[in-house]
Amino acid sequence: MINLADYKNERQYKTVFFETFGCQMNKLDAELSLGLLQEDGYSIVDKVEEADVILYNTCSVRQHAEDKVYSHLGALRTLKKKHPDVIVGVLGCMAQKDAQSIFKRMPHVDLVCGTRMFSRLPELLLKIRNHGNHVLAVDEDEIVDVKRIAAYRPNVYQAFVTVMRGCDNYCSYCIVPYVRGREVSRTIADVKQEVMELVSNGCREITLLGQNINSYGKSLPGNITLGDLLIELNGVEKLERLRFVTSHPKDMSRDLIRTMSQLDKVCEYLHMPAQSGSDRILKKMHRGYTAGYYRELIQYARDLMPTIKVASDFIVGFPGETEEDFQETVCLMEDLRFQNCFIFKYSTRTGTKAAELTDDVPDEIKKKRNATLLDLQKKISLEENKKLIGRKLQALVEGASKSDPNKLSGRTRQNNIIVFKGQPALVGTLVDITINEATDLTLFGTM
Ligand code: 5AD
Ligand code: SF4
Repeated sequence: MINLADYKNERQYKTVFFETFGCQMNKLDAELSLGLLQEDGYSIVDKVEEADVILYNTCSVRQHAEDKVYSHLGALRTLKKKHPDVIVGVLGCMAQKDAQSIFKRMPHVDLVCGTRMFSRLPELLLKIRNHGNHVLAVDEDEIVDVKRIAAYRPNVYQAFVTVMRGCDNYCSYCIVPYVRGREVSRTIADVKQEVMELVSNGCREITLLGQNINSYGKSLPGNITLGDLLIELNGVEKLERLRFVTSHPKDMSRDLIRTMSQLDKVCEYLHMPAQSGSDRILKKMHRGYTAGYYRELIQYARDLMPTIKVASDFIVGFPGETEEDFQETVCLMEDLRFQNCFIFKYSTRTGTKAAELTDDVPDEIKKKRNATLLDLQKKISLEENKKLIGRKLQALVEGASKSDPNKLSGRTRQNNIIVFKGQPALVGTLVDITINEATDLTLFGTM
């Protein structure tokens, strides 16, 4: 017979609210953590008020991302006073960076769990449940078991797979090497096994993830490269598409571009942040390439793969960025005509090399430059998308369209979103769509 007190105890603390900030790597960590928690008996709720455990998976890349989390945490004070048994946890990059000081600033937080410890989440939560004290888990050396633990996957047909963690590049503005640690790659065999499992469960498209994916293999014995991994995965039966993000221009070899062009499953898409169009600023950013080198690299890729689309990131208002430097970024964007760009205002990160420089570009100028680049990119995206009208493109159907639930939404090999009319049974299949309308963000078509 079940003892009611035991049962209640069992039931308690078994719903989790989980919110993620930041990059794709963080989203995947969230997926893995939720899989692990589900396996441990937690059910996922989407309201803070219904949760026994509230977890924020955080980002440190810009101050703004951190401010948002601290404000969410602050708002939980009252809830925690009313329900002291609710566990509040901070995970990921900000947890790794701010560690103990999170407890000082927010004493009602119970758990601070760094970027390499989330595989121990159930155990850490149990520790808090049993002892009720602050638990800090930011061990530098802990090895994360990066294997997919259970299937908490919002999309069966598309999956992300981490192939390497960390970054050894030390771009002068970036906190990632400090919060994510040194580069560690998984073996080809390990990645392939995970990919094969995903494919046997219905997955058709895999995106390989790494903060600095072109350095894949450097930490492994032998001369393993990302190209070798792509060749191996291209042979996986029933896998239709392969992508990889994020590329660093300095580490992007022409060999890899050639390999991409020769493998039928590797999509014609690159996310390769330029960060600036000014050589002077690129040097201060410690990026290790010039704007000219970047332009040539993209030209080389376009010569081999004429339909390739490139996405980029830019930082505006880096210390010392003059109007002239900024105009060089505008020029680069105008000339290279990216598919889409992520544009960020420079944000000082304590501990990085750039934090030693004066953050001397006024916020109004940063805002203005940000808006200029956003407007320019919007115009380019619209013009480029309109060029696709009349063309037939292959889409992997992902599900109902968010903007119109009566229609389906899919993705092209070039990572464009296509909305079209079709039967729900098409979800997970590849279909050819003729494009007849386009906005800067979406293509519309018919089968
Ligand atoms: N300030 C502003 N943007 C940054 N990024 C990284 N660090 C900073 C910073 N300190 C941007 C870069 C990177 C993207 C993930 O975030 O453009 O490619
Ligand atoms: Fe943010 Fe970088 Fe951490 Fe991703 S790795 S969550 S971008 S700080």
